[in-house]
Amino acid sequence: MGKYVALNDEIHAYMSAQRSHAQDPVVAALLAETKNLGEVSGMAISPEQGSFMTLLVAAVNAKWAVEIGTFTGLSALSIARGLIPGGRLTCFERDFRWTSIARRYWMRAGVQDRIDLRLGDAAALLAHFRPSSQLDFVFIDADKESYDTYYELTLPLVRVGGLIVFDNMLRNGELVDPSKRHSAPNRAVDALNRKLAADMRVQSVLIPIADGLHICRKLPRGGRPSESHSL
Ligand SMILES: C[S@@+](CC[C@H](N)C(=O)[O-])C[C@H]1O[C@@H](n2cnc3c(N)ncnc32)[C@H](O)[C@@H]1O
Repeated sequence: MGKYVALNDEIHAYMSAQRSHAQDPVVAALLAETKNLGEVSGMAISPEQGSFMTLLVAAVNAKWAVEIGTFTGLSALSIARGLIPGGRLTCFERDFRWTSIARRYWMRAGVQDRIDLRLGDAAALLAHFRPSSQLDFVFIDADKESYDTYYELTLPLVRVGGLIVFDNMLRNGELVDPSKRHSAPNRAVDALNRKLAADMRVQSVLIPIADGLHICRKLPRGGRPSESHSL
């Protein structure tokens, strides 16, 4: 048997409450406004995922970050809060209806000065994106079939030791459901999970927070030593 805790609503609520700033009023207000949008609100990340991302960004002392897929702005807010002073986050999002909401909450949280929003198709914009420094942190959360394209476009821009984090990599369990795993987005995510696990350019782990995060740390040229833990 694997060692894990299967969540239910009670355990999830307990887990979500035991973290720094669990009652953040800006996050609560942002999620309340997002919920009023109806079904699309399910696209927002969860607050505990936001806390985890802030911690990850801070843990790698990130100064330069990129986000692909911003929606109403909770993940961007979470990343921006983890950056070191003087840090910058560039967000790629194609729908200004969502980012007009995001901007208001970035303002309320006082992080608007750290965020540079680029509106349009992410792959087209990224193809011409030339950051002034290497990236420390990338978060990918847009159209699933383009994740691999986003990975290949951003990996060369990331410093050794920097992180690329992919959202929704468990696809609500559908990757192991024979009746659902063959949809185009599920096939794309499954192929990417397998690719990342075998990719010698990165060290990777898929963790079951929210809908699954696949976290990759860029390795030096030459890739990972085959039998060593000294990565
Ligand atoms: C799952 S939502 C992102 C959620 C967001 N990270 C958050 O914390 O709330 C995906 C977003 O990606 C955007 N998107 C989808 N395809 C895109 C593309 N090709 N280029 C840019 N943005 C895209 C959608 O408009 C949507 O806002």
